[in-house]
Amino acid sequence: MKYLPELFTANARWAEKMVADDPHFFAGLAAIQTPAYLWIGCADSRVPANEITGLKPGEVFVHRNVANVVVHTDLNCLSVMQYAIEVLKVQHVIVCGHYGCGGVKAALEGPALGLIDNWLRHIQDVRDRHAELLAALPDNEARWRALCELNVIEQVRNVARTPLVGDAWRRGQPLMLHSWIYGLSDGRLQDLQASMQDGTEMESVVTQAVAGVRVRYMPH
Ligand code: CO
Repeated sequence: MKYLPELFTANARWAEKMVADDPHFFAGLAAIQTPAYLWIGCADSRVPANEITGLKPGEVFVHRNVANVVVHTDLNCLSVMQYAIEVLKVQHVIVCGHYGCGGVKAALEGPALGLIDNWLRHIQDVRDRHAELLAALPDNEARWRALCELNVIEQVRNVARTPLVGDAWRRGQPLMLHSWIYGLSDGRLQDLQASMQDGTEMESVVTQAVAGVRVRYMPH
């Protein structure tokens, strides 16, 4: 192997181990995938969906972009969601952010980075929507952590507002949305308590989850 031989060696070792554990593993997966979860996460190299959830190939459908943003005109994300929900019939959509997110920090502090500034505008919309809460926090570290959480909550609301998800709920298709955040420093996932299983309580769920952010970071 001419380029990156260490990765091919590691791949061969991994494939051998998988077959040793289950001789039919790849044959089964090649025939069909039936993941129960769609993961919408940050592209950050430190937040690999399968590894941190202990899920095997075939168990989670994954979409990642900078700062786990769900934009209503993003055909890439919407196509992933449509295929996952309507064809694969996943039962859970997990939006997972992480503390220490560089995209969120850039959106908060606003230095010009180039093309990505257009993408980060969506997180600045979240920042501006919660400007009063963020301004009341004691320091920039608290604001960064809080905006990482608020961004997840707002992106779950964006998922819930897509016609795609509304149609699934109207059909009675079981579909639950989740808002999670991952800690780079301890490897732990936390639920930000903005789960939704139909659209009826969307706004009150978001309001309560945002109140939770306020309680966590506001000085008492
Ligand atoms: Co990130």
